[in-house]
Amino acid sequence: MVTQEAKVQTVWETKLPLPLAGRGKVRDIYAVGQDKLLIVTTDRLSAFDVVLPDPIPLKGKVLTQISVFWLDYFSKMMPHHLITADVSKMELGAALTPCLELLEGRSMLVKKSKPLPIECVVRGYVTGSGWKDYLKTGGVCGHVLPKGLKQCQKLDRPIFTPATKAVEGHDENIDREQAAGLTGPDIAKKAENYSIELYRKGAEYAATRGILIADTKFEFGIWNGELILIDEVLTPDSSRFWPKNQYEIGRDQPSFDKQIVRNYLSGLTWDKAPPGPKLPPEVIEKTSLAYVEAYEKLTGKKLRA
Ligand SMILES: Nc1ncnc2c1ncn2[C@@H]1O[C@H](COP(=O)(O)OP(=O)(O)OP(=O)(O)O)[C@@H](O)[C@H]1O
Ligand SMILES: [Mg+2]
Repeated sequence: MVTQEAKVQTVWETKLPLPLAGRGKVRDIYAVGQDKLLIVTTDRLSAFDVVLPDPIPLKGKVLTQISVFWLDYFSKMMPHHLITADVSKMELGAALTPCLELLEGRSMLVKKSKPLPIECVVRGYVTGSGWKDYLKTGGVCGHVLPKGLKQCQKLDRPIFTPATKAVEGHDENIDREQAAGLTGPDIAKKAENYSIELYRKGAEYAATRGILIADTKFEFGIWNGELILIDEVLTPDSSRFWPKNQYEIGRDQPSFDKQIVRNYLSGLTWDKAPPGPKLPPEVIEKTSLAYVEAYEKLTGKKLRA
């Protein structure tokens, strides 16, 4: 369904004439031949793991173009899945021609890999569930941390805290031995090293653009026998983005994007079970602007809308 909102066309769900390989909370994924995937990022927004009923204008374009930015930024560091994000180069066939305008800016043609069964989480600050864990255990996911850390304090070194990829429900934290059991020790070690390095380099760059990346989740896949970076990369959906000029330790931080929605939802009596509540137009508009601002701040470029 495509709706017209605030003059910007939003994409809620796509129905392309290609075999559907999967529909996640945010992405529609199609098979292109045997060895490629077309990943289309819609404007759906999920909060507390529930997809809310309103699309956020431009969100899918922001997430796609931030991922494309980072894949290019990291391309000398490690191989990745992106073939092209330019619809005119995708060669999807004549049946797709009427859909190209809708796909432009929000789609990636990628190498189809075998995703590792783990989510590679890296944390550079102690926040969220990590902060709760620290208060209880003095560490985060088994990493022992110095005493006396304050909420949202930067860690001396980023830590790797892998999780399972739950098909349904919440991902579960696992320790590095369990991760090694799921992927094999060599691959787990490689994935850990890459994750830390990608986070370090990405966070360092983002800080120069006024954004602190507090933590993030990477995914890797095996393609042609080699480990490659897949999925979305260092986006506000896969990471916590904090405005650097508002950062203060000892309290929760405002986030760039979903904070507006979270604040609105926290004022409601909603039990976090589907269906999610509808959002007022001003919350939708502010959220859309916040996503676009994250892109423009990070890249220094105008969004290709
Ligand atoms: N190059 C690739 N090869 C194979 N699978 C990929 C590739 N890139 C991404 N994926 C997979 O595509 C999916 C991305 O879709 P999406 O983010 O919407 O779903 P999800 O993260 O699994 O679930 P949800 O967002 O609903 O929690 C992920 O399962 C990811 O592992
Ligand atoms: Mg995902």
